[in-house]
Amino acid sequence: MMELKHDHLPIHLTNLAQRYGSIYRLKCGTTTMVVLNSSKVIREALVKKWCDFAGRPISYTGDIVSGGGCNISLGDYTEKWRAQHRLVHSSLQRCCKKSLHDVIERQALHLLKVLMGYKGRAVDLSEDFTVAASNVITTMAFGIEYDKSSSELQELHRCLNEIVALWGSAWISALDSFPLLRKLPNPVFAHLLKEVVRRDKIIGRHLNNYKSQDKKNQDVITGSLLQGLDNQNTKDKLLTDIHVHMATVDLLIGGTETTAAWLNWMVAFLLHRPEVQELVYEELCTVLEGRYPKYSDRHRLPVLCSLISEVLRLRPVAPLAVPHRAIRDSRIAGYFIPKNTVIIPNLFGAHHDPEVWPDPYSFKPEGGGSGGGSTRDLIPFGGGARLCLGESVAKMELFLFSAYLLRDFQFLLPESETSLPDLRGVASVVLKIKSYEVVARPRPVTNP
Ligand code: HEM
Repeated sequence: MMELKHDHLPIHLTNLAQRYGSIYRLKCGTTTMVVLNSSKVIREALVKKWCDFAGRPISYTGDIVSGGGCNISLGDYTEKWRAQHRLVHSSLQRCCKKSLHDVIERQALHLLKVLMGYKGRAVDLSEDFTVAASNVITTMAFGIEYDKSSSELQELHRCLNEIVALWGSAWISALDSFPLLRKLPNPVFAHLLKEVVRRDKIIGRHLNNYKSQDKKNQDVITGSLLQGLDNQNTKDKLLTDIHVHMATVDLLIGGTETTAAWLNWMVAFLLHRPEVQELVYEELCTVLEGRYPKYSDRHRLPVLCSLISEVLRLRPVAPLAVPHRAIRDSRIAGYFIPKNTVIIPNLFGAHHDPEVWPDPYSFKPEGGGSGGGSTRDLIPFGGGARLCLGESVAKMELFLFSAYLLRDFQFLLPESETSLPDLRGVASVVLKIKSYEVVARPRPVTNP
């Protein structure tokens, strides 16, 4: 049995792959896990054999944070889950097609204003990135935008952040692996329960607010989801309000910390390689001739796109995806995998695989990005039936936010700072960079 308590689990699992290969088994308490460390084995399990590995582990703590498994990310692969997934997917597509681009553009412009307000002072931008990403999702979900000082937004962020952090902690995962511990007092678990109640109160308030409106806006995701509930066949009503409630939680959690963490990584990598920032800036100036970019400009901005891919490769913000479960006996890379085995797709490991990436640990966006490997092997959003539900939202956000920021600002290490940001990161469910300060110096105004 291996010790799984480690300060950076993705790096630890990746190091183990050097000794044991791209697929190995670990035992943690009563749970057997198979860790997949290359894009080849991950794609075999998640994409080619998706119907064998689309399950989620049965988890005592997962059940508690997900309203009894009623959400998308932790719910098992059942008929109800498929109905909920179909409903959320179609609502997301419909609402994003109508307004996502405008919503992100508005938030990007607002972010530029906030940065301008710092007047070249050294600041930690993580909170601003969180507000920007969160506002995209809350606008899409509820039609509400907050500012940074909003106490409700702060409460919601704090609470969702706490839940993700607590749920990823050893105190909580131990309850899944060692059931006897559930009988002992556990203050961390008590804290988690309190935060779940707080979260459900805030989301419930928004949903009730929406339901009580006379003129309902069905272009917001929650409206579209509730409409979808009403449209269900009365004979086999699979979904209820709790599925809408928990899907909203999924979108808020999935859509906030991931994008915000990525923006923080992008700025940090550029502080390490300022010449890359200049290459992106020159490309933006040449191609856009002074105007702000549209998502459709991405094909004409290869350096920026390479930067985005390279940051996603080196720091996949969901480094171990979400654990999968074999729903029947199967095989991966020729090895027998019994039903119920927990599968950990180590995306961080796959993105640092020396068999695929010639120089896996170097940040090299200028050579077309992806460290010289193939884009097929870049799998930051997972794949198959459990592919990230927000992939297209995230891609548009990463592109527009970074293009707006790098068009209008040059990011510099503060003069008072002697060391560059530490790129190792802190790994929980989301891989984040340790907080650092940066100066955002406005670029000269360009006239379109
Ligand atoms: C799941 C990555 C942004 C919503 C996932 C998974 C990964 C991932 C790796 C797990 C896939 C698996 O289980 O195999 C990312 C990255 C993002 C991002 C790298 C941004 C840089 C978003 C956004 C949203 C979102 C913006 C919502 C709008 C979800 C949901 C799931 C998920 C709901 C659960 C899917 C399921 O269980 O079927 N994401 N994500 N994500 N993500 Fe994202």
